[in-house]
Amino acid sequence: MPTSEIGLDKTLAALGITQAPRVTAHFAEVRAHFEKQFRAVHDELEWKIFRDRWLGRKSGVLTKITDNWLKPATPELKRVVGACLNELRAYVETEIEARRAAIEAGTEESAVARERVDLSLPGVIRPVGSHHLIRQVLQEIEDIFFSIGFSVVEGPEIETPYYNFEALNIPEFHPVRDDMDTFYLDLPKGAPTPLLLRTHTSPMQIRTMEKQKPPVRVIVPGKVYRRDNPDATHSFAFHQIEGLAVDTDITFCDFTGTIEYFVRQFFGPGVKTRFRPSYFPFTEPSVEFDVSCPFCGGTGTATGGGPCSKCKGAAWIELFGAGMVDPTVYGFVNYDAKKVSGFAFGIGIDRLAMLKYGIDDIQVFFQNDVRFLRQFP
Ligand code: PHE
Repeated sequence: MPTSEIGLDKTLAALGITQAPRVTAHFAEVRAHFEKQFRAVHDELEWKIFRDRWLGRKSGVLTKITDNWLKPATPELKRVVGACLNELRAYVETEIEARRAAIEAGTEESAVARERVDLSLPGVIRPVGSHHLIRQVLQEIEDIFFSIGFSVVEGPEIETPYYNFEALNIPEFHPVRDDMDTFYLDLPKGAPTPLLLRTHTSPMQIRTMEKQKPPVRVIVPGKVYRRDNPDATHSFAFHQIEGLAVDTDITFCDFTGTIEYFVRQFFGPGVKTRFRPSYFPFTEPSVEFDVSCPFCGGTGTATGGGPCSKCKGAAWIELFGAGMVDPTVYGFVNYDAKKVSGFAFGIGIDRLAMLKYGIDDIQVFFQNDVRFLRQFP
């Protein structure tokens, strides 16, 4: 309804309003009119136009009512028109002011909303990797040896024949070199010494003792290389952890006690251990160390009957080689063989991981197939 419909430009008399009740009723209509228009006012611009239309000094609705209805009113009606007008003015002013505050708060709110960083949105999820199973098992082994006073050293993967063989009491034409012969590097003619990829971590026994006086208690994790054809149990690269303890009073009992402690910590208290005589040029006596098969509980029989597939019915599984350090080795590092004694061991990490986690193919460690790796988060 345009404002003209409420007759702002005419006097009340011209509108035919001559009695007080008609005046009140007409003001009620004006107020309804105000309310209806006011509902459509939502933003600052609309509000300003609306305010001017109603409160504008020169031609606002209230000014027109004053000029056209109040001033020319008959003396009988003047009071009631004045009262109605005052009431209307108070109402209109309050409403308009309240809406101004609301719009201001609202724009502020929407500005804040526009500028706000929405922390509830999901971020960019970056997949987190995990340690390779070999690394996990290595850390497990390290932790066990840390707990009994060993520390870690690491050494080069490219070695000289002196450290890999000679100083370990394996002279040039010793038959064990046949097993171990490995990858030699192509070097320019006249190179001072041949170089090879180490076949075991044992060279670090020599390097450690050259640098350090007894007592020595170290473990040496690392990669080793042999000229093997890959199959389920062989790989031309694999991982070992060497152990060496040398002091003035180390006995065979310390040796067996240490190894047994390690194996029980690693496989659980239920396993049994045993030694078999063996041969390594750098240990004397030398042993192969076996553990009772953790899969069949050392019975050799599978749960459903028949021979256990892991130990092939033998009840024992060969774990690793070890022994008391051969006194000849001390000669290479200037230790007094009469005063010191010690033991060494060389654990295949891959083999231990396969046994503990029931993996039957060593190749999976090197294929980087995430379907395998994800099983060990
Ligand atoms: N180096 C030996 C091997 O790789 C293992 C070993 C280490 C044996 C230390 C005895 C002492 O087979």
